[in-house]
Amino acid sequence: MSSDFWWMFDRTHIFVHYSLIMRILDCDYFVVGSGIAGLMSALGLSRYGKVVVATKKECADSNTNYAQGGIACVVRDDDSFDDHIADTLDAGAGLCDERVVKEIVSGGPERIAELERLGMEFAANKDSSDGRYDLGKEGGHSHRRVFHAGDITGAKVEAALLAQVAESPNITICDHFMVVDLITTSWLGIDSDNRCVGAYVLDSSTKEMAVVRAPHVVLASGGGGKVYLYTSNPDVATGDGVAMAWRGGVPIANMEFIQFHPTCLHHPDAKSFLISEAVRGEGAMLVDAAGHPFMDKYDNRQSLAPRDIVARAIDHEMKEHGELCMYLDVRHKSEEFLKERFENIYKKCLGFGIDMARDLVPVVPAAHYFCGGVKATIDGRTELDGLYACGEVACTGLHGANRLASNSLLEALVCSCEMVRFIGEMPKAESYDKVAIPDWEFGDAVRSDEQIVVEHNWSELRTCMWDYVGIVRADKRLERAYRRIRNLKQEIREYYLDYLVTPDMLELRNIAAVAELIVKSAMQRKESRGLHYTLDYPEMMDEAKDTVITRTMNE
Ligand code: SIN
Repeated sequence: MSSDFWWMFDRTHIFVHYSLIMRILDCDYFVVGSGIAGLMSALGLSRYGKVVVATKKECADSNTNYAQGGIACVVRDDDSFDDHIADTLDAGAGLCDERVVKEIVSGGPERIAELERLGMEFAANKDSSDGRYDLGKEGGHSHRRVFHAGDITGAKVEAALLAQVAESPNITICDHFMVVDLITTSWLGIDSDNRCVGAYVLDSSTKEMAVVRAPHVVLASGGGGKVYLYTSNPDVATGDGVAMAWRGGVPIANMEFIQFHPTCLHHPDAKSFLISEAVRGEGAMLVDAAGHPFMDKYDNRQSLAPRDIVARAIDHEMKEHGELCMYLDVRHKSEEFLKERFENIYKKCLGFGIDMARDLVPVVPAAHYFCGGVKATIDGRTELDGLYACGEVACTGLHGANRLASNSLLEALVCSCEMVRFIGEMPKAESYDKVAIPDWEFGDAVRSDEQIVVEHNWSELRTCMWDYVGIVRADKRLERAYRRIRNLKQEIREYYLDYLVTPDMLELRNIAAVAELIVKSAMQRKESRGLHYTLDYPEMMDEAKDTVITRTMNE
């Protein structure tokens, strides 16, 4: 990449005006994020040097921790890599990179074995005629192939990996560390090929700015469901990695493909609670308020069609009949089965007065997963040397226009392993170890007395995305959203320059950047494909093309 990217940052923040000497943490590898991609990267890289992991809140606050379904991987004799590849390509609606799909799918068994060595226990099959594991089924899969630990698979993976990380003398976890922006050599004015050499971070426990300096920076910061008003994602999912990479001039791909999970619990007090697709895998049917199944009108796989189709069908039924939700009917399963297989979901629903064994479960679609992200190879390389991206933050070509359920943890496992291999085999980038990095410039910034601006813009932006850039799109809606987001972005930028930074402000700045990327990408795609459905171009074009956006001079 050429070395003239200095203009891409807010120059106001470069010069040293502040008397405090900023804390600098030096390490060999800086990992941003503490979900499955971040922790697997950290564990692997710790074999080669010192690793610092930054996590915005507590280390277990990640999308991984909320993953209910599991990890798709072929092990049974009646299944095959070819079938898993075909299902992934079919869900991806012609936009997957077939070579990447093949590598990731075939890398699964080794990575599952590695997770087990690290302490993860998957549910075993009680009647073992089927083999060792109890494998789940989800939408778009032609076989049972989802490794799970009941309905808290992600939480169990996260706990196993955190226990391993705690044992590693080479890994330091910095919680409450929010990364603000990447630091590159061209921004520093160093005359060399541009590369990433670290990042500015806000330590929100001390409210101080610091620098993490490292010749290799790994973005494993997950997705950004919080860009939308309704999401299955936890509060930390604000698209920080995508926003930072974009500000750093790194190409961002396929951001129009936002996956809406069809079945989030519809209840006024149930914030972001998912009813796993595995419930449909066990035979639950989508029905309307009168209890009539409706999915046969949309796809012959009915309630287990890929997510784009199911989410659109629910949206259509809700709009047509003026209903606030649709329902899942799993009453054919015994209370005993539901309590065991879906312990967490069963309990949660019961807490809201819904007994899954006797009642219909009200559900609505909600933003769930970014299929696009920082353009990266299977071994995590981005177009900026020294910067890697892995997991949901990355766009490798696995998901294409729609991710197949439970392929995301698989991708994070395989890609983090490939990335560690790639970085481990590289000669050490010694010359960037001690590059001089200026202190954060506070300028005339003062403490904000207008927190209401952050809150108002936060709600306005997310409502705008939900209303105009949701499951069904149209040119007019996108244009409307684009105008509003541009205005909000300008206001947020002024606010960012005038006031001392806070985590809320930084997250707002990031969701605004990501919202604009989603809208711009959606405006560029003049067809309907996978998760991007537009009333103005309902047909799919013959040729499938990625949408790639790189920051331009005047942005
Ligand atoms: C689910 O359990 O339905 C979510 C799994 C996934 O998003 O892959």
